[in-house]
Amino acid sequence: MLRIEGMNTHYGASHILQGVDLDMPQGRISAVLGRNGVGKTTMVKTIMGLVVLSGGRVHVGGTDITGWPPHRVAREGVAYVPEGRLIFPDLTVIENIKVGERGPGSAWPLARLLDLFPSLRERAASRGSQLSGGEQQMLAIARALVSDPKVMLLDEPSQGLAPLVVRELAGVIRLLREEGVTILLVEQNMKLAEAVADELHIMVKGRMVYRASPAVFRAEEETIRARFLTV
Ligand SMILES: Nc1ncnc2c1ncn2[C@@H]1O[C@H](COP(=O)(O)OP(=O)(O)O)[C@@H](O)[C@H]1O
Ligand SMILES: [Mg+2]
Repeated sequence: MLRIEGMNTHYGASHILQGVDLDMPQGRISAVLGRNGVGKTTMVKTIMGLVVLSGGRVHVGGTDITGWPPHRVAREGVAYVPEGRLIFPDLTVIENIKVGERGPGSAWPLARLLDLFPSLRERAASRGSQLSGGEQQMLAIARALVSDPKVMLLDEPSQGLAPLVVRELAGVIRLLREEGVTILLVEQNMKLAEAVADELHIMVKGRMVYRASPAVFRAEEETIRARFLTV
């Protein structure tokens, strides 16, 4: 559903992504783990067209979206839930969701989103700035879902959340998979990734160095953690 081949990205003279390959099957959750600063956010931004790639190709479904600007990538069915959530602090919950709307006929209209996220329904008239971290994360996901995506890119959604809220988030992510959304989950923290992913990948210094099923990952976890993930 989402396929990246040989993705290269530079920030000025810094060569950040150095040939990233990733093939994400439809309706599955692919997790990319990696230490701080290896290029995970850069990869997500490059898929979205927010950062211009200097080499490689990106396909969504059968369509080559390499080099497309963000609005066209979004229209092709890719939704982005950024690191840090980037909720509009002065807009209400409802207004924040409406920012993500792309037109009528979404499989995820407002009413369905408020059923899926009862805490957002309760806080519908509250401003973004008044929400807890967990509520902001759910709102960021709702804002992405309302655009009716085929593929959702989640950048470190568990960041700063209490374990109980992370478990709630895992439930939401699994439900999205059941509804057929293909998910790229980028995480620095293994817990959520391990709990939901169908495939785990590890990035080191702008390259993918490891790919495994959850079962294999669990069996190798101690070695993998020491080798690729701990500081
Ligand atoms: N806008 C930018 N300009 C220059 N360097 C950047 C920029 N954004 C990130 N970097 C650098 O690119 C590298 C990868 O960053 P990032 O993709 O944010 O990593 P991760 O998400 O894995 O923590 C880091 O060394 C970071 O300092
Ligand atoms: Mg990041």
